[in-house]
Amino acid sequence: MQKLNIAPLTKSFDIIIDNIASDKSISHRCAMFSLFSDKPSTIKNYLRGEDTMDSLKIAQKLGAIVEDDGEIIKITPPSKLSEPDDVLDCGNAGTGMRLYAGLLSGIEGSFVLTGDKYLRGRPMKRVTNPLRDIGAKIDGRKDGNLAPLHIRGGKLKSFKYHSPIDSAQIKSALILAGIQSDEVSYYKEDLLSRDHTERMLNGMGAKITTKEDGWIEINPLKEKLKPLNITVPTDPSSAFFFAIAAAITPQAKVTLKNVTLNPTRIEAYKILEQMGAKITYIKTQDVYEPIGDIVVEHSQLNGVTVDKNIAWLIDELPALSIAMSIANGKSVVKNAKELRVKESDRITAVIDNLKLCGVGYIEYDDGYLIEGNATLQKATINSQGDHRIAMSFAIAGLLCGMEVEDIQCIETSFPNFNEILDSLKA
Ligand code: S3P
Repeated sequence: MQKLNIAPLTKSFDIIIDNIASDKSISHRCAMFSLFSDKPSTIKNYLRGEDTMDSLKIAQKLGAIVEDDGEIIKITPPSKLSEPDDVLDCGNAGTGMRLYAGLLSGIEGSFVLTGDKYLRGRPMKRVTNPLRDIGAKIDGRKDGNLAPLHIRGGKLKSFKYHSPIDSAQIKSALILAGIQSDEVSYYKEDLLSRDHTERMLNGMGAKITTKEDGWIEINPLKEKLKPLNITVPTDPSSAFFFAIAAAITPQAKVTLKNVTLNPTRIEAYKILEQMGAKITYIKTQDVYEPIGDIVVEHSQLNGVTVDKNIAWLIDELPALSIAMSIANGKSVVKNAKELRVKESDRITAVIDNLKLCGVGYIEYDDGYLIEGNATLQKATINSQGDHRIAMSFAIAGLLCGMEVEDIQCIETSFPNFNEILDSLKA
C-alpha cells in the first residue's frame, strides 16, 4: 500500500498554479456526450485521471475511435453504438456508472457496467429505479441497487420525475435517457445541482430548458448533435485543496488558474470566504460556462455553519473540515447525509481521521460538529480508498506533518497532486 509522508511547511508561499487537474465532471461528460454527435469532438485538457480515462475506454468499447496526441483527444463516434463483447469497467467512478446507466438504457443491446470494490458497494437504485420506471431493463445485486448492473437497452418512455435527492448524477442519467425517448420529459430537484450536462448538451444543440418553477424540460433529440469543441477548465474541487492550503498557512497566497466559476461548483469558496479567507474571482472566459482565476489569501478563520446548498459543496466538505478544525470556534455541517454514500462514508472518514489529529467533534447522522481552535497533531491516517480524504489530510500535513496511507486513489482525479504539493515548498 502506497504512503505519502508530508513534512510541515517551514515557510509560507505565494504561488500561481496553472496545472491543477482538469474538471472531472466535465471530462466524463465529454467522453459520453461526444457519442451523440456524428462528427468528431475535440477535447483539450481532458482529465487524465483513472475515473475519466475509464469513461473514455467505455466510449471506445461502444465503438468510438479515440485519437490522443498527448494534448488533444479526438473522439469520433460510430454511426450506431455497438454492443460491446466485454463488461464496461467504470473503475471508482460513480459519475461514470450512473451517467452511462442512463445513456445505455436507451441504446439497443446488452451492457454490463461494473467497477472497483468501492463502486460495487455504492447505491445505484437512485438511478436504476427511475430508469426502470420508464421502461429500462436493468438488473443487479440487491434488486438492481448494486453493480455489476446488467442493462438491456431499448425504447424508453417519457417521464415527469421529481427526484428525492439533489444529485447531478441522477439528473444527468435521466436527461441522457430523456433525450433518447420520443416525447418531452420533465425532471425536478429541490436545489439545482451542478448543471454541466444541461450546458454542454445545449451547447451541442439539444433543447433542455430549466423553467422558473425548477422543472427541467427535456426535449427528445431530433437529429445528431454538433460535436464538442472544448478546453476543459480546471476542477474547482481539486483546486480547493490548494485554496485550503493557502487559507490555513499564515501569510500564504495562491492563484488558481482557469477554474470553472460555475455557481453550482464554487460554493465551498464562498464558505471559506465567510470563515474569513480573502478570495477574489477573476472571470476571463465564457465557454459553455464561466471560467477564470481564483485568488485565495490567508486570514484568521472563524467557525461556520454549513446546512444549505449542500449539493454545491458536497465534494469539498472533507477539505473544508481541515479549515474548520483550526478555525476560531465551532463549525457545524448538517443536511449532508449524502456524504455517507460517496467514495467512502465521508462522515466517518473525516471524523475518524480528525480524531487521530487531536480534533474535537460530535458526529451526526447527517454531518458533524467540529470543535475548532485545534492545534493539529501529526498522525497516520487511512484514506479508506477515497481520493478526497487522502488529499484533505495531506493538506492538513502542511501544518503538522502527516503520514497518509492508501494514496493510490489520488490517481482517480488528481494524478499530479503530490507534485503541486511539493512545489509549495520550493
Ligand atoms: C458529480 C456529481 C456529484 C459529485 C460527484 C460528481 C457529477 O455527485 O459528488 O463527485 O459529475 O455529476 P451526486 O450527483 O451523487 O451528488
